[in-house]
Amino acid sequence: VLLNQLIEDILELSRLDAGIKEGEHRSLDLAELTERILADLQPLAEEKRIGLAWQRPISAVMTVGDPARLARVVRNLVDNAIKYTPVGGSVKVMTALELIDEREFATIWVEDTGIGIPAEYQSRVFDRFYRLDPSHTVPGTGLGLSIVKEIVNAHDGSIQLKSRPGAGSTFIVRLPGLG
Ligand SMILES: Nc1ncnc2c1ncn2[C@@H]1O[C@H](COP(=O)(O)OP(=O)(O)OP(=O)(O)O)[C@@H](O)[C@H]1O
Ligand SMILES: [Mg+2]
Repeated sequence: VLLNQLIEDILELSRLDAGIKEGEHRSLDLAELTERILADLQPLAEEKRIGLAWQRPISAVMTVGDPARLARVVRNLVDNAIKYTPVGGSVKVMTALELIDEREFATIWVEDTGIGIPAEYQSRVFDRFYRLDPSHTVPGTGLGLSIVKEIVNAHDGSIQLKSRPGAGSTFIVRLPGLG
């Protein structure tokens, strides 16, 4: 299963490298997409007794892009939040339209109460194959966040990480809004 994932990830990265805009370009509701991914990952969270808190917005959070790729962004972030949070912890997910300097953004926050990431590694976690866990107790290839970053960049978005060891991590992705 891990090998299949690795091959799929490498293929996706080479497609993104090639700048292939084979990706779809249509308007979508980031909140609706997120809700779908959370439903998919609910069993994974339950296995670890991690509460998945979904703060559903009142109105749609519209952006433009490739639904499959943006679904991957959300899935990789929530998957990490679950993986790197100890049993019994919690993960909070929120989406909203934000107005920053008169520009509209479709934003998602993925917040966990997990192990956190020391400041000196916070930029490196987006590098290909980079993993922090030295004992490799949690399986993975280290490609998830590099794919997230490439997809976000391809959508003219940005990604931000706020974390403190022991206090958890928050990943924030901002995509251009429709307005
Ligand atoms: N929410 C998080 N909390 C703490 N550490 C994290 C979190 N998300 C990522 N990391 C750290 O960043 C590294 C890179 O994450 P990334 O998603 O790219 O790879 P992975 O989860 O190890 O493997 P993959 O996603 O390819 O299965 C992880 O190995 C982990 O050390
Ligand atoms: Mg990952």
